[in-house]
Order: sequence, then structure tokens, then C-alpha cells
Amino acid sequence: MAKNYYITTPIYYPSGKPHMGHAYSSIVADIFARFKRLEGFNVLFLTGTDEHGQKIEKEAKKNNKDPKIFCDELSDTFRSLTKTLNLTNDDFIRTTEKRHYKSVIEIWNKLVESGDIYLDKYSGWYSVSDEAFYDEDEIEESNGKHVSKSSGSLVEWVEEESYFFKLSVWQNKLIKYYEDNKNFILPNSRRNEVIKFVKKGLKDLSISRTSFSWGIPVPKNNKHVIYVWLDALTNYISALDYPDIENVKYKSFWPADVHIIGKDILRFHAVFWPAFLMAAKLPLPKRVFGHGWILSDDKKMSKSLGNILDPLEIIDKYGVDQLRYYLVKEVSLGNDGSISLENLKNCINNDLANNYGNLCQRVFSFIKKNCNNKIPKTNNFKETDTKLINNIKDNIPKLIDLINKQNLNEYIKTVVNFSFEANKYFNDSEPWLFKQKNPERMNTILNTIVEQIKNISILLNPIIPIATRKVLNTINISDKDISIETIRKENIIDNDKELKNLDILFKKIENDN
Ligand code: ME8
Ligand code: MG
Repeated sequence: MAKNYYITTPIYYPSGKPHMGHAYSSIVADIFARFKRLEGFNVLFLTGTDEHGQKIEKEAKKNNKDPKIFCDELSDTFRSLTKTLNLTNDDFIRTTEKRHYKSVIEIWNKLVESGDIYLDKYSGWYSVSDEAFYDEDEIEESNGKHVSKSSGSLVEWVEEESYFFKLSVWQNKLIKYYEDNKNFILPNSRRNEVIKFVKKGLKDLSISRTSFSWGIPVPKNNKHVIYVWLDALTNYISALDYPDIENVKYKSFWPADVHIIGKDILRFHAVFWPAFLMAAKLPLPKRVFGHGWILSDDKKMSKSLGNILDPLEIIDKYGVDQLRYYLVKEVSLGNDGSISLENLKNCINNDLANNYGNLCQRVFSFIKKNCNNKIPKTNNFKETDTKLINNIKDNIPKLIDLINKQNLNEYIKTVVNFSFEANKYFNDSEPWLFKQKNPERMNTILNTIVEQIKNISILLNPIIPIATRKVLNTINISDKDISIETIRKENIIDNDKELKNLDILFKKIENDN
């Protein structure tokens, strides 16, 4: 049976340039996608842009641009970010594409057919910035203005004719789904938040707007455009060519294995989206993972505070592997976490340059100097050697399990620890003492340490793909052998080929840089 895996990021609003928060979600999803590929899965990794709605229309007007042209330009900056971040997304969806329109119209019609849509009048609070309706108890006054308690964004009073989705009738079915599928919403704190919200009682949801026109028109009543969230969420199946549910893509990849999102959009993904799908009689995604917030120096990044860290600038200055590693090492996925330039530099120096980088560099130069640049043959392993090697191999099921639970931090901690242990082993076994008196022992130590370098590099490959590929290529492991299976195999190291040259992996960063 084919092992398929479907993972998505949010589709981002191209209302401005991409920032660190967008980069974070995308990098996290990319790491999982890459790991599952190393494990042998047939992966579909989707990202894209969410281009309709009042927020985009307003922003386009501000810039004196037609909304489509405005979106074309900004969507391109998101698409080019996927390259800069070294993402392996298989597709990039835009909600202004034809394939997407088709799916949204079909979903709408399905909801009409099932009797889940009716026409009425909406009056209440709306935040254009969040594209969200808020209840009276979800807003507060701040400096004489009405704002959302959760996001702090401005809300305005809206009264207009609107189609409604009968969200209220799905309340008990949603609760049952959460109870039956304990890992549907992760982490657990998010799950509890959602259950509390749903148990409080769900009101029917306004799913069309009439006061602007930038959106997909409601079938048979084009005075209305479809609410941007019903439109946007559908991207996860329009990319699979829904409504053609007989096609291979849809059949292989729906339901999705995991939607990676930020906690700000949890309600849309964990309440509205499953309700829409149930009403349309479609399977529900297996998981929604809501990660935490990236803060800068403990505060929310904002232009006025001047604490914005621009992913492009950082990559330009320090490198993409470096940013990827730092973000996921520093911020515990699921919680909020603060990042800073100071800590980025320390992390590059300590973890990448001094630990993993140094391990590879000193072992390879030792081999070059003492063994004609070839990894010498041996089979005289002592217990200390095999214990070290087996420790990684034996931990593979645990590491796979951590990734399947999106426990990225425990995963990284475990792998970084392997790297510390490998460094310690090399120091403690002192191969340089054996060159004359016991070359066989020296050879065994080198074989052991190269085996560790190989396996650690494979495990770090989803996080720092460029550096690890260089290291693996240095010991003549070809790209197709970069896999979890290669860790399990014996005798994969080629003793007859010379090591390739390896440039400095991670430059140490001086303080004034
Ligand atoms: O909400 N820390 O788009 P959006 C961590 N179009 N992640 C952050 C972040 C931060 N400071 N800021 C943003 C939308 N993000 C909708 C989504 S999906 C069908 C539609 C990330 O451009 C995080 O993933 O506002 C968050 O959920 C997402 O960007 C919001 O991006
Ligand atoms: Mg947002």
C-alpha cells in the first residue's frame, strides 16, 4: 500500500510582504514534509496565498491598484519566499485561480443542497484585519475604540443581508468528533480551548458579504460574495482538484494528515472547517496543529516597536539553514517564543559551528591527514563503539513517533544530543594516540564516528538540508541514499572512495556582525 502524507501551511494574506511569522509556519511544515519523505512517504506539501476579501480589497485601494494586479505582485513575493526558505512544497495555490473557484462553488452548492444555508440579515462586529465576526463578549473598548480582545484589532459594526451557515446544528457532532479523536487538535492546550468555545454554544455563521465585491460571487445571487474564510479553507481540497473526487490526487491525499497553522486561526480550522466538511459529507482532516506566536525580544513584532526581524535580511546575512535551525530550536512548537539576533548568533556558534560543524570538520581533516583521505576498513568494534552506533538506530521508532506528534523540540534535542555524544566519543577515544601503536583501533574509531556523522546528518537533514547534504556527499552518500532506511542499514560507508572536499560548514559569527 502506498504511504501517502499530506501537509499544509496556512495560505497567507498577500496584503503586505511576508514576515518572520509566515516563514516560521512554512519552515515547520517543510521540516515535517522532508522527514516524511526520508521515511519513504509519498508527500504532498501545500502552501499558497489567500487573496480575496475586504482586507485585500482595502489594501489594494490604498495602493491604487486593481486587486488582482495587487495580488499578483504580492503573491509572487510569497512564492519567491518558498525558494529562499528552501521549502519543498509540491504546489502553491492561489485562491484567485480557476481550479479554486470551481471547488468553492461546489462546496457552496453542497451546503445549499444539505439545507445548511439560509438567507437572513447580519448585524454585529467585524474585524477586517482578522476577517472575523466577533460576539459582544469578545470585544472591548480601548482608547475609545472597539477592538477584539484576542487579537487587539479594530472591529466595526456591520449590518447587511447575509447568507448563514447552520453552524449551531453541528455543535454536538463536533464535540463528539473531538472526543473520539483525541489528537485531532494539538497541542492539548489548544484542544481544550476549542472544546470550551464549542461547549459555550455555537451561533450560526455569516458566510457571505454584500458591502464589497472582491471575492467569489454566491451562485445565483451575485450581490453577495462568499465569506473569505469559507473560500480560503477550501484551498486544502481545491489543490487536490475537488470536486473531482475520483482523481488520484484527491484519493491519495484527502483527508490531510495535518494542517499546520498559528493559534490565531485555530477556530477557523478546528471548528468551522470540520463543520463545513461534515455538512458537505466529506472526510475531516486528521489533525490541526496550532503553533504559538513568535515574539521579538519578548514583544509582539511590530513596525512601531522597530523590533521586526526580516527573514530575508537574516538569510542574506547568516544563511537559510541557520535561520531554519534557530527558529525551531529556539521556539518550542506550540508555545510562544521570543527570538533575537543575539540568540541567533549564539545558536549558530554553539550548536551549528562548535557542535555539529566542528565534529564533521575535525573528523574529515583527521582522515585526510592520517588515512589518505579514505575511511579505513575495519570490523573490530568494541562494545563502546557499537553502543554508540546502536543508540541512534534503536531510537529511530521514538524519533518517528516524535515527528508524528509534531514534537519537534524533543526531536531536535535528541538529535543534538547524539551530536554532543559523538563529539565526546571522538575526544575520549583519542584516535591520534593509536596511529602508530594500534592502527586497527584508530580505524575502528574513525568508522564509528563517520557512522555517527552519517546518521546525525540524515536526522538533521530536514532541518538544515544544505549543510547536511554537503556532509553526506563528502562521505560519498548520494542524494537517493539520504533516507531513514540508510540509518538502519549496515556497511553503507564506502571505504574505497576518497572523501570529497568540504568547505567551512558554518562560519562562526563575531560579536559585531
Ligand atoms: O490568517 N508567529 O493569513 P495571515 C508565528 N489567510 N506565526 C505567525 C506569526 C507570528 N508572529 N504571524 C503570522 C491568514 N504567523 C489567513 C489564513 S488558511 C486557510 C487562511 C503565521 O497572512 C501563522 O501560521 O494572517 C498564522 O496562523 C498565519 O501566519 C496567519 O497568516
Ligand atoms: Mg493574520
